[in-house]
Amino acid sequence: MSFVEVAKMDEVPEGSMKHVEEGDTEILLVNVEGKIYAVSDRCGHMNARLSMGRLQGTTVICPLHASQFDVTTGKNIKEPVLTSIPGEEKVPALKKYSERLE
Ligand code: FES
Repeated sequence: MSFVEVAKMDEVPEGSMKHVEEGDTEILLVNVEGKIYAVSDRCGHMNARLSMGRLQGTTVICPLHASQFDVTTGKNIKEPVLTSIPGEEKVPALKKYSERLE
């Protein structure tokens, strides 16, 4: 497996989010208690960039309509969006980003 460096650890301080791109893939990196999570940076509702939203613990809140997602699983935890954001389990290519940044 090859890796692509998308960020340095010090660019994603604990409790913060960062938007990065690799090719056509927009990625949201989140540092939760020193562990980096990588999920899609686009909300499944109306395509807002989640990195423009707010982070509360492991929850990212969409900037447009306030759907909430758990960044550790990608699961939706509050409507209006009913679908989860793609995470490692749905977008295998993102797994390499998480592994590389640990
Ligand atoms: Fe994210 Fe509407 S665009 S909740």
